[in-house]
Amino acid sequence: MTNKPSPAPAAATVASVLTAARRALSRAELSYGHGYLDSSEEALCLVMHALSLPGDEISDATLKKRVSAAARQRALALIRERISKRIPAAYLTHESWLQGLRFYVDERVIVPRSFIAELLTAELYPWVEEPADIGSALDLCTGSACLAVIMAKIFAHAAVDAIDLSPQALEVARINVARHRLGRRIRLVESDLFSAAGKKRYDLIISNPPYVTTASMRKLPPEYRSEPAMALAGGGNGFDLVDLILTQAADHLTAQGTLVVEIGHHRSRLEQRYPRLPFFWPETSGGDDCVFVLKRADLVAPGALQVQPARRRAIS
Ligand SMILES: C[S@@+](CC[C@H](N)C(=O)[O-])C[C@H]1O[C@@H](n2cnc3c(N)ncnc32)[C@H](O)[C@@H]1O
Repeated sequence: MTNKPSPAPAAATVASVLTAARRALSRAELSYGHGYLDSSEEALCLVMHALSLPGDEISDATLKKRVSAAARQRALALIRERISKRIPAAYLTHESWLQGLRFYVDERVIVPRSFIAELLTAELYPWVEEPADIGSALDLCTGSACLAVIMAKIFAHAAVDAIDLSPQALEVARINVARHRLGRRIRLVESDLFSAAGKKRYDLIISNPPYVTTASMRKLPPEYRSEPAMALAGGGNGFDLVDLILTQAADHLTAQGTLVVEIGHHRSRLEQRYPRLPFFWPETSGGDDCVFVLKRADLVAPGALQVQPARRRAIS
């Protein structure tokens, strides 16, 4: 019998590495939702990052590119890390995208994914009549400053304040403000909600506060548990911070000012809690139950903030 040499393994291409990455991710029981919807999107993000290729435009020519054995190993090692550590892909690549803008992220902040970003890109039409009229704006609970950066870019005349209680989050925010060259437009402030805002009033206040109920916090998948708990936990019914924002915002809004707050999919519970507030719920890619808009006049109307006690214990 002759000893035939075994055929040389086919050279790896970007396409074959992507296929292997997708297979490995979809076999593992992972949780998605941190900027990438499923195993295909995360495979693309992680493989392109490991191969130092742009992840946003993947042409046929890119898919056919040869990949060295070392580069293939690098890419698959990143995939293995995603599976074993169960942390969002963005914490491995240290980058995240929102409305076409790139942000630095690490475990000091949640991974940007707020639906408010979409509304900002649409210039908050029709609640903000003239974008040029927004002279002052506040991003309350700013985290990575992703929303503050988008807001500063959309409302080019606005001086933007960005508040967070976490000094660690503000360190990340500082990196993003510098990377987007907005140091002169965005002021980062360490504060417990409005406490350091003094008497300052804003034409626009946006906020994506922590709003996860205590019951839901207990059931979070590992990927979400690797994010800072103080960025997610909103107390028993999820509304600890939302209640404070609703009761304090009028003192920090100008007469025509607008308040925009993200609350998860808790629309019906919030409407039951504040039956006299005329919430408006704009349509976002997450639905029409997660972001509300109010004008200052809505908040100061007699009895507007009257709370209807929950009839039974809050559910997630
Ligand atoms: C859901 S994250 C939002 C981060 C960012 N705006 C985004 O959309 O990605 C909530 C942020 O609120 C901050 N935070 C929690 N409690 C706060 C408080 N009492 N005052 C100010 N910020 C607070 C957390 O540190 C966290 O960065």
